[in-house]
Amino acid sequence: MAAEATGEWHGWRAAAEAALYGPDGFYRGPEGPAGHFRTSVHASPLFAEAVARLLCRVDEALGRPAELGFVDMAAGRGELAAGVLAALPAEVAARARGYAVEITGRPVGLDHRIEWLAGPPKGITGLLFANEWLDNVPVEVAEVDSVGVPRQVLVREDGWERLGEQLSGAEARWLARWWPLPAEEGLRAEIGLPRDEAWAAAVATVERGLAVAVDYAHTADARPPFGTLTGFREGRGTAPVPDGSCDLTAHVALDACALPGGRVRTQRDALHTLGITGARPPLALASTEPAAYVRALASAGEGAELTAAGGLGDFGWLLQPVGIADVLTG
Ligand SMILES: C[S@@+](CC[C@H](N)C(=O)[O-])C[C@H]1O[C@@H](n2cnc3c(N)ncnc32)[C@H](O)[C@@H]1O
Repeated sequence: MAAEATGEWHGWRAAAEAALYGPDGFYRGPEGPAGHFRTSVHASPLFAEAVARLLCRVDEALGRPAELGFVDMAAGRGELAAGVLAALPAEVAARARGYAVEITGRPVGLDHRIEWLAGPPKGITGLLFANEWLDNVPVEVAEVDSVGVPRQVLVREDGWERLGEQLSGAEARWLARWWPLPAEEGLRAEIGLPRDEAWAAAVATVERGLAVAVDYAHTADARPPFGTLTGFREGRGTAPVPDGSCDLTAHVALDACALPGGRVRTQRDALHTLGITGARPPLALASTEPAAYVRALASAGEGAELTAAGGLGDFGWLLQPVGIADVLTG
């Protein structure tokens, strides 16, 4: 970040949009998201199995429709869609239709039953599941200046920042409503408005069923004082530099995204309800069925990772039913 470097100034939203999704953007790379970080989908096949169980609950609530849609929204390389279809009971799989929605191209060798789309199909009956999508929907960043006024943060391709105009209009209203900044120089916030809009548009494609967004999240009672914008490259956190070399991500204000009837639970809680606890198998199994014990132990380790406090278990699940009752109780 050389101070003398030159380049154009942009708000973080436009800068991240180009850096992630432009022609040479980070997400256009052949390695896919799994080449840089582990989501719950990569952590264990147990995650797709739990989502398949959730899809079965949605299926029941819908009265077993002739066609049951599953939309893997922001699908990466389609790993979740493939895992969910593979984990469904035969009777449900026979009625299921899988879609993977991605800005990048279809990976070679993906299950032929999965339709690869640039946007979610309209009017599905079923489940739309967005794992770690909204944190990658670019947002503006605001920072309080020396006289206590929140301003738009501008950034150059080398990551150098300066403050721009005072915030106004819908962005200022969003800040006031969801992330009011005290008049203390240096405090920062990420303006989640584009995520609220992206989520509302995705939910609107579900005719009947459930939409779920899963992400690192925070709620109005505990916003991080300096925001969470950060970079990721090859498994490590890095400075957020919008030059296409790293992921750019910021935790999601899921409470702001929620539409009427939506609610946020932790991943730990949601996965417990779907049968993943991370509990160790009984020791007695080790002597009666050693191979089964070893398998169960490995699976317990993966379950523990998916539900861990301070890790994936703290993710928020925003559950948005559309025309059906809550399917994730008890
Ligand atoms: C962090 S990755 C998550 C991938 C996958 N869901 C997982 O959990 O492993 C985010 C993905 O969202 C995709 N993405 C971002 N915005 C999108 C959009 N508007 N439509 C479709 N895909 C999008 C990116 O290309 C990237 O593959």
